[in-house]
Amino acid sequence: GSVGDAVTGGSRRRRVLFFPLPFQGHINPMFQLAGLLHARGFAVTFFHTHFNAPDPSRHPDYDFVPVPGFDNTAEGNSSLDTVVQVTLEHILAMNRACEAPFRERLAALLRRKEEEKEDVACLVADAHLLSLMDVTRGLGVPTLVLRTGSAACFRLFVAFPMLCDKGYQPPQESQLDAPVPELPPYRVRDLISTNAAGHGIIREVISRIMTAAESSSGLIFNTFDALEADELASLRRDLTVPVFAIGPLHKLSPAALSSSLLQQDRGCLAWLDSQPPASVLYVSFGSLASVSASDLVETARGIAGSGRPFLWVLRPGLVNDASYSQQLPEGFDAATRGRGVVVSWAPQEEVLTHPSVGGFWTHCGWNSTMEAVCAGVPMLCRPCFGDQMGNARYVNHVWRIGVELNGQLERSKVQAAIETLMGGAELRQRAKELKSRAAEFVTETGSSSANVDKLVKHIMSLRR
Ligand code: UDX
Repeated sequence: GSVGDAVTGGSRRRRVLFFPLPFQGHINPMFQLAGLLHARGFAVTFFHTHFNAPDPSRHPDYDFVPVPGFDNTAEGNSSLDTVVQVTLEHILAMNRACEAPFRERLAALLRRKEEEKEDVACLVADAHLLSLMDVTRGLGVPTLVLRTGSAACFRLFVAFPMLCDKGYQPPQESQLDAPVPELPPYRVRDLISTNAAGHGIIREVISRIMTAAESSSGLIFNTFDALEADELASLRRDLTVPVFAIGPLHKLSPAALSSSLLQQDRGCLAWLDSQPPASVLYVSFGSLASVSASDLVETARGIAGSGRPFLWVLRPGLVNDASYSQQLPEGFDAATRGRGVVVSWAPQEEVLTHPSVGGFWTHCGWNSTMEAVCAGVPMLCRPCFGDQMGNARYVNHVWRIGVELNGQLERSKVQAAIETLMGGAELRQRAKELKSRAAEFVTETGSSSANVDKLVKHIMSLRR
């Protein structure tokens, strides 16, 4: 297209730099966005930590620059109460550790590109790379922020100081079902929940994300107008920087190269082929969420008791009780023989679009939510932390394509929820309708490519 030609049409080539937060749910959308911009003619460089480093051989067209300093997080089994706190501490540690090495490597890259007469247009950084964005701007390079969560969740960030002032944060146990009239459709339980101990660090990180976003040259969301029109409009009113809705990224990105950190077990796709249409329950809690040993046991019993075919992702480290060896309860195999498959990591996008899959038990990470919305699969929502509760609220209450499952798990409760999910004709119908709205949006004539055009024009207009 003409916008794409503008990228390479001049005498100098344009390069966009990317720096994802090194977690799966953040790496995938960053690679999808890079694929989209690469297809429009931009050269691509990825900065990355040693921790959860991408595999350059899977992306031969891109340059990769390792940034030392942050080699590993103290992987451990965090309890549900502390998983947010521990993750945010890692994120702050990563910002500190990478600051100096990143400055050095970025400066070297800029010198080299100057010699090669190549323009560096900007850095697209994950919203959590707080000090690294300051470093980038300090070296005269504009930043764009990729926020991998929903626009609705970012409204919550904008409102966070107000929510704290009004006493909604940290949430009180007795208030969980109370509505938040200042921020519909949320209830107290849908806000970023934390215990009092974790409140300080959440407040700090959100406030720094807001500063980073407001000092950037633009904010990119993996969402689309047909899904979050009001939320996007509200952000465009409240924020001084341009807001781009570039999604659903996994549908738009032509690269479709896997950025999966774990080996995906593709054998389960052949098993899905052998199952009746819309019969299989797919169960997965993403890359970070953890469950207690007792919840795992009740989940297994509920799945066994449901009588439904299932595909269950039991990721290594999923159970947060260190003494638990992650075995399924005795009798589970016998009770479910021939009816289900357990894998340690699945090719999720392909699983969700497989015609045999009829329901998705999910932790409601934003990528999983978008993938299910686009595949037209209704959800059983059991959010764990961060933005997941808010995502679940939209799934159940706004789009009405899900079932809520809160509190301590118990076999009969699990079984009932699975029944509502798999047997719900209305849920399935609404999920199908939303899927076709998403599909319309993605087609050539839809507004998604116009939105990408706007982003490309914006990047071309940035001046160093
Ligand atoms: C995290 C946060 O939890 C989430 O709330 C935030 O919005 C993004 O970062 P994560 O918990 O890993 O992400 O969940 P999610 O956003 O759903 O991302 C998981 C990704 O891994 C998805 O793209 C999914 O397709 C992929 N996946 C998951 C697999 O490829 N195989 C699996 O078995 C499970």
